[in-house]
Amino acid sequence: PKKVILDVDTGSDDAVAIMAAMRSPQIELMAVTVTHGNQPLCYTLDNTLRVVSYMGGGVPVYAGSSEPMVKKLLPGRSQNGGQQDVQKMIKDGKEFSLHQKTLDLPEATCRAEEMPAAAYLVQALRHSTEKVTLIPVGPCTNIAMALRMDPSIVEHIEEIVCMGGGDNLGNRTAAAEFNFYADPEAAKIVLGCGAKVRILTLNATGSARFDWADAQKFLDLGTPAGEFAGQLIRHRLEFEEMKGNADTNGTAVHDALTVCAVIDPSVISCQEQIPCDIDIGGSISDGQLLCDHRATAKKDAPTSVAYTVDKERALAVLLAAMAER
Ligand code: BDR
Ligand code: CA
Repeated sequence: PKKVILDVDTGSDDAVAIMAAMRSPQIELMAVTVTHGNQPLCYTLDNTLRVVSYMGGGVPVYAGSSEPMVKKLLPGRSQNGGQQDVQKMIKDGKEFSLHQKTLDLPEATCRAEEMPAAAYLVQALRHSTEKVTLIPVGPCTNIAMALRMDPSIVEHIEEIVCMGGGDNLGNRTAAAEFNFYADPEAAKIVLGCGAKVRILTLNATGSARFDWADAQKFLDLGTPAGEFAGQLIRHRLEFEEMKGNADTNGTAVHDALTVCAVIDPSVISCQEQIPCDIDIGGSISDGQLLCDHRATAKKDAPTSVAYTVDKERALAVLLAAMAER
């Protein structure tokens, strides 16, 4: 199996990603690190701990950055989300009243480790005898912080497979995808760090949408992971309908597809060695992924961009992982 650290901002698609990574025999999940993103850090952390507990625990969880490197937190991400709150949460156990912000799971039975995520990443990578695959599926803050703390960790990275950006496609703004928009500087550092980076863009994740029948296939597995993944996919489909997107043929489970691409790289088709950068200008295209397709562009870039996902194959890979008890 591949040694993997998964970096999340849980989030419903992150939750499916965590369960797939915990159950896939192709992955040795060293740890889950958590960042701000879909919600303030205290909620993304609690959600992550709930998912890991639900799956039986055994994987350490590290709380990471509660704020982006430079940019201000996106609106609605700061209430109860400060670093102090998270420190208190780690000390006391769970002291948050989470209501709608939580996933519909029992309270966590495990706690976050004391070490901050970026410090853990540096330590784990320095000491790993094998190279490690990093899978950031939220804003890239934790990975970028670790790279800034010790740039030499790049030598211990097998590959970074990240969910973010879109080639001429945005979801948070017309130009930018959510994860890269939430911390553009961090995304820029990660893309430019020198390690091999494979980017699961919105182009790719949006090409493999799961529908109601697919949700039922997860439920039919009869395993805890299948049951919860099925519920989450249904929840996402209801949300798409609420937003008036019912005609999009299902929901893109971005982060789960990203883990899927590590379990079986043949599920994605990539354009290799495309120079990539992020707009950090703070204007209307802030956080935009720029893929340089010019014939004159440097051809030995370590970044590759995924444009499509083979839906049936990805579904089969995820179902196989979640069939494991
Ligand atoms: C990404 O943003 C988050 O909302 C999702 O969890 C996913 O990682 C999609 O743009
Ligand atoms: Ca995410």
